[in-house]
Amino acid sequence: MTRTFTPAGPGRDTVQLWFCPNDGLDEAIGSLLAGHWLDEHEHETARRFLFARDRRQYLVAHCLVRRVLALETGTPESEATIWRTSRGRPFLRPLPAGSPADVPGLDFNLSHSRGYNVVASARGRRVGVDVECLDRSAARGFGPIVESFAPEERAYLATLEAGGERDRATLRLWTLKEAYAKARGLGLGLPFDSFAFELDDEQGVLGFRPPADDTADRWTFAELRPRPKVLVSLAVDRSESTAPRRLLLHDGFPWSRTSPCEVALPARTPQYV
Ligand SMILES: CC(C)(COP(=O)(O)OP(=O)(O)OC[C@H]1O[C@@H](n2cnc3c(N)ncnc32)[C@H](O)[C@@H]1OP(=O)(O)O)[C@@H](O)C(=O)NCCC(=O)NCCS
Repeated sequence: MTRTFTPAGPGRDTVQLWFCPNDGLDEAIGSLLAGHWLDEHEHETARRFLFARDRRQYLVAHCLVRRVLALETGTPESEATIWRTSRGRPFLRPLPAGSPADVPGLDFNLSHSRGYNVVASARGRRVGVDVECLDRSAARGFGPIVESFAPEERAYLATLEAGGERDRATLRLWTLKEAYAKARGLGLGLPFDSFAFELDDEQGVLGFRPPADDTADRWTFAELRPRPKVLVSLAVDRSESTAPRRLLLHDGFPWSRTSPCEVALPARTPQYV
């Protein structure tokens, strides 16, 4: 069954972020929704988790994706057909042109980590997103992460005081790199030392050295803190040099189209470094 209305979503100049902690979706309701909404691949993946907390994270994240797609396309959550590229990037199966639920160029990307989930969505441009907790350093060392960075990023980190300041900058770089690699659809298949960011505490991303097959002026990057210790980085394709103008942040499980909060997007293009 397909709903008969045409989805009234935001325009191509708008990027949306849908942030939802696990506790934004009641556990019993989440299990019920997952039972109805998720497809066989998602059920099979959920069954393979050894720990209940990891399964719960996966179920909330995937209910969130399907809810966002339903709001964006007007198609019921269980009817979205999600395909994956050979590198694992999920995308919505294209529908025949003219079908009521067809939203040409709709792109989305999911990230989930330690109780937090975020989906980015946009029309006519690629998006990539990554979420990490700033206290992650307490649980794991950053050594292997930093070793994967570009030389100029490692040199920058070495100038920072060990501990809080350096850990925060490391996670900022890491989430930006993941967001970019995920927007490209390459994930960890893209060597993290083949591109570099230059950061500023106040102004976010100042510079970007892209990999050899890309250009810096194609991208807008944004960093958000939806919770004091939660860092979200977003990479948005400027698509034929039209920059995205608006970023809307939804907080909590999106049961309805409640008013999101508008977040400023950096207007400038990151300079080559
Ligand atoms: C994508 C990747 C960087 C995720 O890193 P992560 O920080 O551990 O996890 P995140 O929560 O931020 O993102 C995971 C989500 O990204 C999405 N994703 C998976 N592969 C992706 C890709 N290549 N590009 C963009 N997004 C991807 C998925 O929605 C995934 O969640 P799901 O598995 O629950 O559906 C990493 O898993 C990766 O590189 N995967 C690709 C592996 C690969 O190249 N496989 C080749 C095919 S065999």
